[in-house]
Amino acid sequence: MRFNTSARAAFLGAVLAASAAFAQPAAAQTTDDTLYQQLGGQSGLVTLMDDFMTRLLADKRMGPFFKDVDHKHVKEELVTQFCEVSGGPCKRKGPDMKMAHSGMDVTKGDFNALVEVLQQSMDAQGIGFGTQNKLLARLAPMHREIINTP
Ligand code: HEM
Repeated sequence: MRFNTSARAAFLGAVLAASAAFAQPAAAQTTDDTLYQQLGGQSGLVTLMDDFMTRLLADKRMGPFFKDVDHKHVKEELVTQFCEVSGGPCKRKGPDMKMAHSGMDVTKGDFNALVEVLQQSMDAQGIGFGTQNKLLARLAPMHREIINTP
């Protein structure tokens, strides 16, 4: 069965919630850089985040959150964060996810919408479904810190 994008997003939302319960400690995720390489390393992540920010700004649900922020800074933070969680040679020093999102109301629906846009970006970069799911599973535990509104 093939899912359309929003069906996949809903499905992955459920996967994210489920996989959060089995999240590995950060140290266990950084010993192997396979996922980082599959994402195209540093240049792959820079290209991915450029595309992601463009799509976030164009998306009716996400655009309002991102229109007034420093896009260059957020993209750089995302590249470093995705590098780190995928096992690459980076260490993000910025504010934690709770702090970074505390100035805005983020619902579960917002979180799923952002995941859907990220999937669209990964599809556009030709990143395979298995690689996408591995990355999303590593981002999943963050939903507890980012979703702050019922
Ligand atoms: C897995 C999900 C998410 C991840 C990994 C993530 C990651 C990040 C990171 C790394 C930053 C940069 C923080 C900094 O160092 O300044 C950031 C900022 C931001 N995020 Fe998220 N985020 C996620 C979900 C969301 C959602 C669902 C929304 C909104 C609906 C959102 C809206 C924003 C906005 C507007 C900023 C910029 C804040 C500012 O500079 O004032 N994020 N996010």
